[in-house]
Amino acid sequence: MHRAVISGSGLYAAPDLISNEELVAAYNEYARRFNADNAERIAGGEVAALEPSSVEFIEKASGIRQRRVVEKSGVLDPQRMRPRLTRRPDEALSLQAEMAVAAAREALANAGRTAADIDLVICAASAMQRAFPAIAIEVQHALGIAQGAAFDMDVACSSATFALDLARQNILTGAARAVLIVNPEVCSVGLAWKDRDCHFIFGDVATALVVERADETRADECWEILGAKLATRYSNNIRSNQGFYSHCEDRDPDDRDQYFMQEGRKVFKEVCPMAAEHIAAHLADLGLQPAGVRRFWLHQANIAMNQLIGKRLLGREATADDAPIILDEFANTASAGSIVAFHQHRADLQRGDHGVLCSFGAGYSIGSLVLRKL
Ligand code: COA
Repeated sequence: MHRAVISGSGLYAAPDLISNEELVAAYNEYARRFNADNAERIAGGEVAALEPSSVEFIEKASGIRQRRVVEKSGVLDPQRMRPRLTRRPDEALSLQAEMAVAAAREALANAGRTAADIDLVICAASAMQRAFPAIAIEVQHALGIAQGAAFDMDVACSSATFALDLARQNILTGAARAVLIVNPEVCSVGLAWKDRDCHFIFGDVATALVVERADETRADECWEILGAKLATRYSNNIRSNQGFYSHCEDRDPDDRDQYFMQEGRKVFKEVCPMAAEHIAAHLADLGLQPAGVRRFWLHQANIAMNQLIGKRLLGREATADDAPIILDEFANTASAGSIVAFHQHRADLQRGDHGVLCSFGAGYSIGSLVLRKL
């Protein structure tokens, strides 16, 4: 058996920034027009009037202040309310692969590795741009990785942590020597920007990680993966029904269930205790205590969720040093969120320090990895 380490990470932030103020102004103009256009039906009780969104609500309920997206003009156009993307020729690199490649280049440089060293590429994300060919194979090709295999996997917000466990197992058994994981999360294309309950939630980024054998790493700083714990428990509270079946069911592309849907309050109440218990049990399996963990890189969906999970684990308020928050700047970036936190908030830890990476989300799914800095 080999030991597996994370030896490099990379981040690509989507180019356009939308502040809460811009987002709310666009939504409120959309709602004003909708209400004016449907005045008679609203008066007749046929449809409900749209209530305005508010910057104060968004910041208080979620902690999100802004988000980065692949294209903002379409999102902020009250006539459109979704990104404006140009169809690319089949020969061109897909948008998702392009973002993944940018993050991957940083992760490879960070790990002191090149395309020649990678023998497995996993693209793990909450939605893929198309069914096939796999985005991971495009990334493998674009980076010039001539050997090994590549494939896509999707476990919603837990895609990245589930992929990390898969990479770890490939390293432990010797099936792979160096694995590249990419998480291109383009959440803005699946978000219902016309729904004020969730229009503020998501942003777009790509992250990347290199996982390799501890005895072969060339990185100055690396993180041994001491253990991984994955769990799923069925819930319908976070869902999207978009897919090939929709057009056979003669669905209208504007049907609400073709986009991200959630019962946010139920998710909050059900997932927080599950995540805290999951992490505590995982640490106990390894003979560790939450108080002995130097840092928690948690999934980034809602600041209050992370504070609650932190408090349940530590028995006190978790500080930004215990469990850093990046969702104020990036919003919820699905499975990439905890990886962004890890990428940006790990350099100050000392050799021997322990950290926990943990995601939670649709499924429900929870994935945690206990790391030690070498
Ligand atoms: N602006 C103003 N008011 C809004 C609003 C907005 N943008 N969105 C909702 N409201 C209103 C609601 O209509 C509701 O009004 P009511 O009390 O009159 O019915 C009120 O604010 C509270 O709404 P609610 O949805 O209960 O808010 P919340 O406190 O639960 O916060 C979330 C909403 C989504 C931020 C929160 O539930 C959450 O983050 N949940 C977890 C989500 C999660 O982790 N999802 C995983 C995705 S991968």
